[in-house]
Amino acid sequence: MIPAFFIQDLLSRTNIVDVVGRYVELKKSGINLKGLCPFHTEKSPSFTVSPSRQMYHCFGCGAHGDAVRFMTEHVGLGFVDAVKELAHHAGLVVPTQELSPAALAESARIKSHQTALYEVLRKAALHYQKLLKRSSEAQNYLSNRGLDHATVERFGLGWAPDSWRNLVGAFTRYDDPLLEQAGLVISTEAGGEQEKRYDRFRGRLMFPIQSVTGEVIGFGGRVVSAGEPKYLNSPETPVFIKGKELYGLHEARTGIRQAGYVLVVEGYMDVVALAQYGLCNAVATLGTACTEDHLNKLFRFAEGVVFGFDGDAAGRKAAKRAMEACLPLAQDTRSIRFLFLPPEHDPDSYVREYGKEAFLNAIHGAMNLSAFFMQVAQENCEMSAPEGRARLIMQAKPLWKALPEGALRQQMLKMIAREVGVSDTDILSSWSMGVHTGLGASNSETSNQKMPLPLASWNQPGQRGFYGSNRPHVRVARPIPRRPEDHLLHLLINHPHWWNLLTPEDLEIVHGLPQPYASFIQWLERDVAHSGYRPWAVVRLVLQENPELQHWIQLMEEMMQSPLEPNESTLRRVLDTLLLRELQEQQTQLAQLVAQDHTAMERYKKVYARWRELKTALTSAPSGDSLTENL
Ligand code: UTP
Ligand code: MN
Repeated sequence: MIPAFFIQDLLSRTNIVDVVGRYVELKKSGINLKGLCPFHTEKSPSFTVSPSRQMYHCFGCGAHGDAVRFMTEHVGLGFVDAVKELAHHAGLVVPTQELSPAALAESARIKSHQTALYEVLRKAALHYQKLLKRSSEAQNYLSNRGLDHATVERFGLGWAPDSWRNLVGAFTRYDDPLLEQAGLVISTEAGGEQEKRYDRFRGRLMFPIQSVTGEVIGFGGRVVSAGEPKYLNSPETPVFIKGKELYGLHEARTGIRQAGYVLVVEGYMDVVALAQYGLCNAVATLGTACTEDHLNKLFRFAEGVVFGFDGDAAGRKAAKRAMEACLPLAQDTRSIRFLFLPPEHDPDSYVREYGKEAFLNAIHGAMNLSAFFMQVAQENCEMSAPEGRARLIMQAKPLWKALPEGALRQQMLKMIAREVGVSDTDILSSWSMGVHTGLGASNSETSNQKMPLPLASWNQPGQRGFYGSNRPHVRVARPIPRRPEDHLLHLLINHPHWWNLLTPEDLEIVHGLPQPYASFIQWLERDVAHSGYRPWAVVRLVLQENPELQHWIQLMEEMMQSPLEPNESTLRRVLDTLLLRELQEQQTQLAQLVAQDHTAMERYKKVYARWRELKTALTSAPSGDSLTENL
């Protein structure tokens, strides 16, 4: 028998995306991956693989399971062979028959250790509760903060007096290593002659933190007078992982189900105060940002989340991070909203000052994900200037891409487009310019670039012009330096008035250059049109603000070393080099048409003659530089 713990370990080290990906072609689709179902015949993909849940599911035939199931059902291996196969890929050795009792014993040991830690923590919580009742200092603090008896009971609040060994009274053995492993006791020079042991929590109001199933897994302790830190939390232990747990979730389960949404706030005290005022659906993260793990946990209880953040700058920052964590989970069935309180308030102080109804009203008026999304995307964008609108497009890109496929995603695209005053397709093609993002690339990006279209217009910057069909697409963040295009950009950036020297034919070629040049050239021409001739130092600053284009700065500065004379005749030669390449491309295309199209031969001859002439002119005069070397 293969021990259960091994299967668990194996699955935690295996990525189902890789496993399924060996047999099925998968494409990214929101947070999931999609492909043609290997369990039934279909023409459009309804088979999805979820990296976050590590499961596959087919909406067509209902097949679903984990990596092991995939290996048995699709590949047809027996259970043991499936496990062996996956273990091989994960670099693990399947425990053999003789080993399994030991392994079983190991997994039993881990389990009983966890149980022992839970017991220790529960005992400590009860002890702190007992001490709370006896402490006038603590009672004073509670009444100053307006906490009533029922609320204190509901959350099991306790008191750790300001002395070194409060817990001696709770445990028969203060030197039990479990106390240290549970994060309750700190030991210096453990095991040595000088060993000193003392309580971690002293002089603090204790908030026991429970797992969703109600086990005490740690504590947050608040100072009641001056002192640092304001809140001291348990360290991470085998039963306490901060990035996954939420304060108050166990207590709020019923409240969340009844309200249909969960209220996520920042502080322990907020959760407690809200509950006292009858808002029993609040939880708080443990002094960390809200993660996808947190949200996945919450969405098991309700389809709605309202974030209630402090009204200050820190609260806004936290809201922004929470939004980023939310985006991949923003399925159409879910509602995610953001409540911003006045700057001087947190949920605790707000509900105390204005009461439950006012708080519910505030929740009612909370900002939708879409509205907050737009606010974040528009941050620092001066919408009356083209630069500002361009900046919005670029700031919105990573946010939009994080959304799962669905109606909301489409709506957001329309919203962004409306805000900027261009069409959806324009937005999508601006996003497809520049750096390639591999897996994340959406269909619209690739299809746009594959189209062999005539000269691109500014409205369709993703298109590739005459070079579209044959030239390989440059798939690097930065082009290989010293191509004619690099020289062209460098010359134009340093002498923006030379744009006027470009003939219509030159412009056609320039506009038709493939990526990554297209987006930079487009930006540059717009910059000249809107802002006039700006020196490089200014252009550089603007570029620096643009995540999509800032990589050009380095290249442009490297080009300062270029041996080419920066004059008008160099510009002409650079343009002619591009024209020559263009004529060559036309020849290739015409040559293929000659058999079917009788006019093609005539055109071919003309193009050939022009090409010949230009080539001779370019290569005969000694230039002393490398520009025409490879013609
Ligand atoms: P706040 O400083 O906003 O405190 O921290 P609060 O919740 O309003 O507490 P009161 O009203 O002053 O008592 C919010 C949360 O950040 C974490 C805690 O989880 C706290 O509830 N925190 C804060 C810490 O972990 N350590 C700290 O020193 C401060
Ligand atoms: Mn507070």
